[in-house]
Amino acid sequence: MKGLKLVVIGAGSSYTPELMEGIIKRQNEFPIRELWLVDIEDGREKMAIIAGLTRRMLEKNGLDIPVYETLDRTEALTGADFVCSQFRAGCLEARISDERISLKYDMIGQETNGLGGFANACRTIPIALAIAKEMEQLCPDAWLLNFTNPSGMVTEAILKYSKVKTVGLCNVPVIMQKGIASALGISDINEFIMQVAGLNHFIFARHIFHEGKDKLPQVIELISEGNDPLVPKNIPPFKWPDRLLANMGMIPCPYLRYYYMSDDMYRQELGEAQGEGTRGEIVKELERELFEIYRNPELAEKPKALEGRGGQYYSDAACELMSAIYNDKRIIMHVNTRNDGAIAGLPDDCAVEVSSMITRSGPMPLNVEPFPEDVLRLIQLMKSFEQLTIEAAISGNRYTAWRALVINPLVKSGQLLENALDEVIEHNKALMPAFQRNK
Ligand code: G6P
Repeated sequence: MKGLKLVVIGAGSSYTPELMEGIIKRQNEFPIRELWLVDIEDGREKMAIIAGLTRRMLEKNGLDIPVYETLDRTEALTGADFVCSQFRAGCLEARISDERISLKYDMIGQETNGLGGFANACRTIPIALAIAKEMEQLCPDAWLLNFTNPSGMVTEAILKYSKVKTVGLCNVPVIMQKGIASALGISDINEFIMQVAGLNHFIFARHIFHEGKDKLPQVIELISEGNDPLVPKNIPPFKWPDRLLANMGMIPCPYLRYYYMSDDMYRQELGEAQGEGTRGEIVKELERELFEIYRNPELAEKPKALEGRGGQYYSDAACELMSAIYNDKRIIMHVNTRNDGAIAGLPDDCAVEVSSMITRSGPMPLNVEPFPEDVLRLIQLMKSFEQLTIEAAISGNRYTAWRALVINPLVKSGQLLENALDEVIEHNKALMPAFQRNK
């Protein structure tokens, strides 16, 4: 059959119109035959609104692609070529409860970091693995693009425990590229090559090659002056400590503020939680507004309001990645994939977020020069946290969970940890069945 079958899991997400815009933009190089939107019962209404907007967007651009909506993954996955995974287990309510529970125990409450990231992983990994198992049967040759958070851990679980071809994606590198371009006054991000390496939400820019020079020191200098254009909407743009970046010779991604400036970030979060609300609560309101806009039968394009979300450019990057695989483009993109020696000091079979050449056979990670000891140790520590978390998510073993959390720099130890972990497990009873079986 000509053309590709594309499946979107978690299609009721407010980011989906960006995915559609990306598909429309690439209609001549990435031919879609049919589009399947999949969600769960709770997401049915949102998915219907997204489907309506999608049909209007396709029609406006003269594209005759059938759009199917379903709650039945089997029907959707059968014979798929590309599957985009972008679901949120437990919806925004779970994100908000992670934030509130963490803050109650004096810890940072964030959807992919610390206790919140752990809880999110434990809810999500079993579902992601179930989807991967279904894909092994129903579409064994398909590529799975994972942007379900926490993207690095979810990707590693799929890479390790299934045979599915998978690549994990994040928008942080794209936001960094755009920020670097604006700092250097360059209009096209393809004019320079940025090399990043690390773990998801834990990467460092190591090189910025432009016109035969490495512009990293220049960008570091510009950022150090205080105006940092590399930060997404959901992270406070605190100024990095003076001379830190120059001393490191690298640019930490914006999420590293949670680790290098934890106290400032904690106070900021606490203040927001007591005032306008946690990020999850703010996003809930933003989503409500977005879906009001999406409902408008006159609307036939991605609205500007979507740019208020931290995950902007995610979906466009996903379309570029699918097209790069399909067309064997051999371009450099920044993805989560098997390390295979790219970062010295990490196991070959773990997932890392690294600049990679994208080929029809998948990403080829680029080797990166060794990290300084302090940074490498921190990355290794975070990798241990991630691996123990994956193990806990699958086994439901409370002690494995405890061992994961106690080494995470954002998590407190002792009685606070005992109580916080009990509350997370109790609160997520229905969404973490492994912990109930393993009592
Ligand atoms: C970032 C991250 C994403 C995350 C998003 C949250 O850019 O890379 O992983 O999903 O922000 O944005 P939100 O608007 O939901 O807070």
